[in-house]
Amino acid sequence: MGVFSNGGVGIDLGSANVTICLENEGVVLREPSYVLTLQEDFDEILATGRDARQMLGRTPRDVTLHSPIMDGAVGNVDLAIALLRTLSEKALGKRRALEKNRLAVSVSQGCTRVELEALQSALQAAGAKKSWLMRSTVAAALGAGAPIDDARGCMLVLIGGSTTEVSVLSMNGIAASRSTRTGSLSIDEAIMRFIRKQKGLIIGQRTAEDLKIDLGTCKDIAFIDNEVASLRGRDARTGKPATVEVTARDIYNAILPTTEQLLETIREAFENTPAEMAEDILEKGVYLSGGGALLDGLSDRLSELVHMPVHMDETPQDDVARGLCLAASDSRIANRFLQSGCLIEI
Ligand SMILES: Nc1ncnc2c1ncn2[C@@H]1O[C@H](COP(=O)(O)OP(=O)(O)OP(=O)(O)O)[C@@H](O)[C@H]1O
Ligand SMILES: [Mg+2]
Repeated sequence: MGVFSNGGVGIDLGSANVTICLENEGVVLREPSYVLTLQEDFDEILATGRDARQMLGRTPRDVTLHSPIMDGAVGNVDLAIALLRTLSEKALGKRRALEKNRLAVSVSQGCTRVELEALQSALQAAGAKKSWLMRSTVAAALGAGAPIDDARGCMLVLIGGSTTEVSVLSMNGIAASRSTRTGSLSIDEAIMRFIRKQKGLIIGQRTAEDLKIDLGTCKDIAFIDNEVASLRGRDARTGKPATVEVTARDIYNAILPTTEQLLETIREAFENTPAEMAEDILEKGVYLSGGGALLDGLSDRLSELVHMPVHMDETPQDDVARGLCLAASDSRIANRFLQSGCLIEI
């Protein structure tokens, strides 16, 4: 399909990232879910996505950085619309207006009726040729290639920035699902607390996230190198700039309680599935998805804990957007999920 043709577009409106996938092109955009506005006028949008984060602290005006999507729900509808509009324009290019495309956007389990209605009107306003809302857990399963059309259940664990959803899916629908507000961001927060308490240094969330990605691991501590990194931040007592040394073991200790809690939630969800479904799941294994799944050693730890194989593709952070794009691109797939109630037509 050519650049000017109509196509399917999948947009994962996540609390940490917006990911956009286009039919026949794959994931073309992934940017942090931020909107920068004037402090006294939230209607005055200065930047969105990566630009918003970069402009912070670099503009002379009084500005506010917003995360319009929190805990898997739309906290600020107008700002979420701005984010959706500007980033989809960026991904599609001016020549391919959204009006010519079929659009599927993710909604999480935590979404309330009011938010759902707000999102629906936002999508109407965005003006796509056709648009749908799809549950992110189902989109992730579709994007991850999990066997969700089977009558026998399969289990999907979606670890995002602010939420983790554990679902049992069968016949293109959700048989059981539970969601917790412990996502990958909780790990960043644990690192920030640890560094402040143990090293007396205040660091920002982005630094903590870098530490998590570079040094964080769920592997057995015996296998961890004692790699040392210098860390710059503010001294917790004096407020002055300071540098301390942290090791991979420090980060291991910082994140251990949070990762163990997360894994425990997943194990508990599995233990609570009906016996006949548990058998199917044991046979098929668990499908792991979302950016948080990339934490080093996490899939192996989970596999050990639940005694079954864990499937994860190379880009689990893109599964939701890929699944949404599949549904938007193929009417047979869309119909399957319309029937099971996991896709809402707008
Ligand atoms: N290599 C990595 N190791 C550990 N964590 C990672 C890695 N890469 C990304 N992450 C984490 O994944 C999270 C983002 O995942 P994702 O994009 O799936 O979230 P989201 O969809 O925006 O959030 P939610 O689904 O909760 O609304 C971030 O917290 C990020 O730090
Ligand atoms: Mg997500």
